[in-house]
Amino acid sequence: MEILRNFAVFEGGDGSGTSTQLSILEQKFAKNIKNSPVFYPTYEPTGGKIGQLIRSALKKELVLQPDALAMLFAADRSEHLFAAGGVYSRCRHGELVVCDRYIPSSLVYQGIECGEALPRSLNSSFPAPELLFFFDVDPETAMDRLKQRPSLEMYERIDFQKKVRERYQNLLGEYRSAGIRVEIIDASQDVEKVAEDVWSALLKMPIFKEVSSG
Ligand code: TYD
Repeated sequence: MEILRNFAVFEGGDGSGTSTQLSILEQKFAKNIKNSPVFYPTYEPTGGKIGQLIRSALKKELVLQPDALAMLFAADRSEHLFAAGGVYSRCRHGELVVCDRYIPSSLVYQGIECGEALPRSLNSSFPAPELLFFFDVDPETAMDRLKQRPSLEMYERIDFQKKVRERYQNLLGEYRSAGIRVEIIDASQDVEKVAEDVWSALLKMPIFKEVSSG
């Protein structure tokens, strides 16, 4: 498995706060911190056409069979990685890319919906991230947060979210064995404390040393 250097991903159940933390990171980098690499925050499903289709399925406006949705997630990812100006070339050119959700989301969520084999094979040719953050929070707390939103999406149900957490826990060991750095973040803490934990873990990426020495 290829590990893509300079690439970190945020993973966790729904309501674990990954999107909030990505925008906090973005604000931090915008302050022009010393010796900082070029920072490119991004997310999946993307804002592109395939991502938009996925989002309408998540909102239950479009009914798709689980296998077709798994294929769309993979197609969206392929474009996100390999289109011009995509994640792959940015990382290879020394930018730091942090993505809100990536392959592990497909292995977990579509694994529940379609079984293990399909998401594994659809994602087998994509590179793994150098660093995987897992935002850990118990599903009840996460559901309480989600209920503050105007409507719930397809996977935002307690029974499903319990399976999501279990599957992530199994998957993390697998990633560690493959040589990927895994950081488990206690996402039940307040937003500022979570942001501090994310920041100190992120700073250990080799790219920060490379920028300051070069
Ligand atoms: P999320 O980042 O939680 O979106 P929001 O902006 O609504 O907080 O992601 C949307 C949903 O998509 C989430 O339930 C997880 C799901 N998902 C998958 O099922 N497979 C995937 O490959 C990805 C990237 C996301």
